Amino acid sequence: MLETNNDHIIQMYHVYKQFGDKDVIRDVTMNIRRNEFLFISGPSGAGKSTMLKLLYAGERLSKGQIIVDGLNIVRMKRRNIHRLRRRIGIIFQDFKLIRTRSVYDNVALVLEIQGLPRRMVERKVQAALNRVGMSGFANVFPPSLSGGEQQRVAVARAVAADPSIIFADEPTGSLDPDSAAVILNLLDDYHLSGGTVLFATHDISLIEHTHRRVVYLTDGNISENGRPPFLSTQYKTG
Ligand SMILES: Nc1ncnc2c1ncn2[C@@H]1O[C@H](COP(=O)(O)OP(=O)(O)OP(=O)(O)O)[C@@H](O)[C@H]1O
Ligand SMILES: [Mg+2]
Repeated sequence: MLETNNDHIIQMYHVYKQFGDKDVIRDVTMNIRRNEFLFISGPSGAGKSTMLKLLYAGERLSKGQIIVDGLNIVRMKRRNIHRLRRRIGIIFQDFKLIRTRSVYDNVALVLEIQGLPRRMVERKVQAALNRVGMSGFANVFPPSLSGGEQQRVAVARAVAADPSIIFADEPTGSLDPDSAAVILNLLDDYHLSGGTVLFATHDISLIEHTHRRVVYLTDGNISENGRPPFLSTQYKTG
């Protein structure tokens, strides 16, 4: 049985995820420190997105234990998932903004769902848009923004409620290098302000020179865990 550990904001213990009879995540055990900025990498299909989904309860694990910020994911009832979700922010490659709502409304929605009073929602939305340099776009609708701008709004939405963890699944995957650098900087800012970041990417150029820990998945299992450069061939050819 896994004991909650305050140094580790995320604990995974012999975690499996099966789709049909295929193990997409195979016997993954690892801890993530509070305020760590961790990359999860590996080739397409290795299980990066699935791993994040297990951690934010977008998918149920098949076997094992997961504790996220003190919450036991396995024991958590579906109706209690909101307790986890209000502590985390999620960013996707395709932004997932609501096209028919303004930038302001996109960021405000998560706060309104949490039942915050309107004045506090306004304050937090403005602060989040300021943080990503998008305060001048509050009344604009997402389709008229560039990809980089849309992703900045997605970052604002993710950080608006002061989450303890951000899960980012290929957040720079559809951006040009300059816009990607902006998003990385924003995640750095969030990390420097005390947040924990899990950043999934198959883009080797993002991680080959990083000083941060990289968990490298191959066929659903951790094949490397540490700082690059790794010694193994799958990294060099990956
Ligand atoms: N809902 C699902 N049903 C069946 N198989 C799935 C499902 N989701 C993922 N898979 C399979 O699990 C494996 C891992 O997928 P996953 O999306 O986690 O990989 P990934 O590492 O994120 O890849 P990419 O770099 O392409 O995003 C793949 O073989 C995929 O086809
Ligand atoms: Mg993926």
